[in-house]
Amino acid sequence: MQERKGSRRRRKTGNGESTKGLRREKETTLSHEKESWKPGNLLYPLPAVMVSCQRPGEKPNIITLAWAGTICSSPAMVSISIRPERHSYGIIKETGEFVINLVNRELTYATDYCGVKSGRDVDKFKEMNLTPLYSDTAAAPSIKESPVNIFCRVTQVIPLGSHDVFLAEVTGITVDKDYMDEKGKFHLNSTGLVAYSHGEYFQLGEKLGKFGYSVQKK
Ligand SMILES: Cc1cc2nc3c(=O)[nH]c(=O)nc-3n(C[C@H](O)[C@H](O)[C@H](O)COP(=O)(O)O)c2cc1C
Repeated sequence: MQERKGSRRRRKTGNGESTKGLRREKETTLSHEKESWKPGNLLYPLPAVMVSCQRPGEKPNIITLAWAGTICSSPAMVSISIRPERHSYGIIKETGEFVINLVNRELTYATDYCGVKSGRDVDKFKEMNLTPLYSDTAAAPSIKESPVNIFCRVTQVIPLGSHDVFLAEVTGITVDKDYMDEKGKFHLNSTGLVAYSHGEYFQLGEKLGKFGYSVQKK
């Protein structure tokens, strides 16, 4: 890769030090020289979410997804990408409903389990001691133990290749009262949310700033 004129060149460490685990303060010593890779998915971190769904008369199921995103604010819309061979794929396609349950530290083990076991073979709610919560308005149950449950109704299914993307409108949200203060403010960032990055789960940690802090008057 060519550097543009005017960009500052940084010096290499030169001491053979591995960049693995390098802390932010040391970054000024990185070279930022690039290696080209073939096209692939490397957009991280992502949320790892537990998506619950259910066919009428059958047991509820949970599928772990990382290919999930926010795509519109008005109306509130999300997307999830699922491989057609997943057990949950048919359930969501037929019922047109699912619930995105956010994952915190306590749910990480179950999240991984629900991402490697199929509902064809096991009852994931039972195996992971999770509680399906039913409502009058939704076909899919939410997961009681999750701090935030986002109820969704599918509006479009787009086949892309390996995955089909489901576009969906958010029809309702429930949040855990445990994380509400006496004024009724919900503290999402106190729930211990988990991110998925390059095959590993992390609990969100250090706060670095807030929206707009770069332009805020001191
Ligand atoms: C962290 C993680 C993220 C995953 N993300 C996706 C995804 O975005 N789309 C998908 O189709 N499968 C994804 N999977 C795989 C499914 O969760 C897995 O195949 C699961 O066993 C399917 O369950 P089901 O057969 O009960 O539907 C993911 C698995 C893990 C562990």
